[in-house]
Amino acid sequence: MSKTKLRAAVIGGGLGGSHGYAYARAEEYELVAVCDINPEVFDRFYERAEIARGGIGEYADYREMFAKENVDVVSVATPDHLHVDPVCDASDAGIRGILCEKPLATTLADADRIVETIERNGTKLSVDHTRSWIPSHQAVREAIRDGEIGPLTRIVAHMGGKRSMLFRNGTHLVDAVCFFADAEPVWVIAAHERGFEDYGPVYDGKGGKNPQYDPGSTIIVEFANGVRGMINAAKLTPQMFEFDLQGPGGRYWLTDQQCTFWKTEQPEGRAELTDAPEGRGYADPFGENLIPAVQELARMISDDVPSSSPAQRGRHTLEIMLAALKSQVEGSAKIQLPLPRG
Ligand SMILES: NC(=O)c1ccc[n+]([C@@H]2O[C@H](COP(=O)([O-])OP(=O)(O)OC[C@H]3O[C@@H](n4cnc5c(N)ncnc54)[C@H](O)[C@@H]3O)[C@@H](O)[C@H]2O)c1
Repeated sequence: MSKTKLRAAVIGGGLGGSHGYAYARAEEYELVAVCDINPEVFDRFYERAEIARGGIGEYADYREMFAKENVDVVSVATPDHLHVDPVCDASDAGIRGILCEKPLATTLADADRIVETIERNGTKLSVDHTRSWIPSHQAVREAIRDGEIGPLTRIVAHMGGKRSMLFRNGTHLVDAVCFFADAEPVWVIAAHERGFEDYGPVYDGKGGKNPQYDPGSTIIVEFANGVRGMINAAKLTPQMFEFDLQGPGGRYWLTDQQCTFWKTEQPEGRAELTDAPEGRGYADPFGENLIPAVQELARMISDDVPSSSPAQRGRHTLEIMLAALKSQVEGSAKIQLPLPRG
């Protein structure tokens, strides 16, 4: 007998179309509805989701959608600073799984409300820090966890190009550093790019898209296990997104498309090029890469498997970004974590 499919819906019809694409293609789901306060967005939703209009419900009010569509799982793809209400309302309405767009929130108060609400209700949640599900990234993290290069000590992370913005896109970079570091962040030092000298301590990105309102920043973050991340998000550079992960026994250089691995049998000795762990890179950030995320969410609900991108790590990521804003306005001071609760 075939299993009953989970009923999936999407809130926010812009990037939400990519979530629709994934639910429509993952066998665990039936995509039943989409909600946006702006009905003009629906055309874009169907285009991105690559599904024909007419087969699913359309709503302007997500509460009405929850009540009428018997939703099991919902994606929240509203602007960066507007995730908290739909996430908490979905959780309070008894929805079992949520895929929340990144960043989790833009204030610690909102992030805390999300974490407390989902914990109280037992809701499963993943944050769409998409690289968490890339097989090559997962394979490298497994190899590091298995001790392949000894204890990880340094992560050098770069994001380049004109959309190098700390919150909007940099959240992917910071979160991936947390993904590999595998521990709590303990302090942060930051210096923003020129032109953003006074930007902070509060996020002022107006919900997302404009690089004028969101600085590139150079950040040093230390984790409780001694891993130190050096994160550089800089405009006026070529587009790039990459990590150099180093330990006494070797080094992985990881981009979205490829992985290079150097290993030394002599700790801290000369490292030689060798075969990288298997696992494909980034297929397509919009749509295809979300399929493993929604499939994992189904298993989180059915089998209680852990998320590859849990809310608690999304909160750490936000805390590092907010600490970077605080460091900047305090003359690149070292900011101890945790920050006072929002
Ligand atoms: N994971 C990725 O790689 C990636 C890429 C792009 C965007 N995003 C994230 O996706 C989110 C949305 O980005 P976007 O570019 O689509 O933004 P957008 O502003 O184009 O779209 C957001 C949509 O949400 C709708 N909305 C706002 N409040 C609502 C509410 N209460 N109920 C229903 N609909 C509501 C708006 O009308 C709008 O259509 C952001 O958090 C962004 O950071 C992620």
